[in-house]
Amino acid sequence: SNTPVKVAVTGAAGQIGYSLLFRIASGALLGPDTPVQLQLLEIEPALKSLEGVVMELDDCAFPTLAGVEIGSDPNVIFDGANIALLVGARPRTKGMERGDLLSANGAIFTGQGKALNDHAADDIRIGVTGNPANTNALIAMSNAPDIPSERFSALTRLDHNRAISQLAAKLGVPVTEIKKMTIWGNHSATQYPDLFHAEVSGKNAAEAVGDQAWIENDFIPTVAKRGAAIIEARGASSAASAASATIDAARDWIKGSAEGDWISMAVASDGSYGVPEGIISSFPVTTKNGDWEIVQGLEIDDFSRGKIDASVKELEEERDAVKELGLI
Ligand code: NAI
Repeated sequence: SNTPVKVAVTGAAGQIGYSLLFRIASGALLGPDTPVQLQLLEIEPALKSLEGVVMELDDCAFPTLAGVEIGSDPNVIFDGANIALLVGARPRTKGMERGDLLSANGAIFTGQGKALNDHAADDIRIGVTGNPANTNALIAMSNAPDIPSERFSALTRLDHNRAISQLAAKLGVPVTEIKKMTIWGNHSATQYPDLFHAEVSGKNAAEAVGDQAWIENDFIPTVAKRGAAIIEARGASSAASAASATIDAARDWIKGSAEGDWISMAVASDGSYGVPEGIISSFPVTTKNGDWEIVQGLEIDDFSRGKIDASVKELEEERDAVKELGLI
């Protein structure tokens, strides 16, 4: 159809935004035949910088970009939004305790959750990239009682893509040979990238690697600490790759995951795999027509069980902390 899809992006003047907006506007999210209207949210002091980004968007003359609106009021910017990508968040600064970080982000995500609840379109899908992503998504979801909880997700697709890339490099195969990668748990250093259910050219990935020590001491920590390695090398946190994963996640959610494969998404648990109901935890999921389903029936051995439980415990602690702060 020719009606533009309204895509809201928060933190639009930030580093991820600088990559993300141009990819969305060029059709990477919804394809070359679907016009998009960008609705960009920033805090007041960043609006001038965002105006510069909009000038650049104009200068690209993207055929799929139907219009751009910017502002600092989520009630206005989320109006009629079909997709909301919540990228803007309060980063942890020096001397900030975890509780301070959770309450600073709590203020942002309670307000944005309410604004989405009151103003977004009926078919809204919400992806949270801003950290702590899982718990920010939980806060937004809890403050949007009229939006079905399955419309909220947090981004673990970057971790998923990193895991695919590391495994492909280890085995010397193209990334396209790797299927059924899973990230379990939190988008944090406790996340569990799982090779025991992944496949390489149709064969079990852990068996193809055949080296438990590499999995435990190399693969898992490399994927889990990749964000820190990029900060160390680049002097800034991952941005283009985070934008790319944000697009991959939203595109697959709406357009559907590939036949014979699955993706990793942090979604509200229904109790699958012993993850407490309601927690936003990463699972293997398949998607179709904007709905996701957790892949069922995977056998979880003791090693994987321990890793999943450790990450889920961290998520429960974050949930308890934001509950105590009255944010959910
Ligand atoms: P950045 O600091 O460059 O940009 C964030 C932007 O958000 C800033 O322009 C800021 O003004 C804006 N912002 C802050 N509060 C806002 C609010 N209430 N409403 C609207 N905008 C607001 O950060 P960057 O590099 O773009 O990263 C954004 C977030 O994504 C961070 O929280 C980062 O930790 C997270 N991230 C998540 C990843 C994931 O895989 N889930 C990967 C990489 C980054």
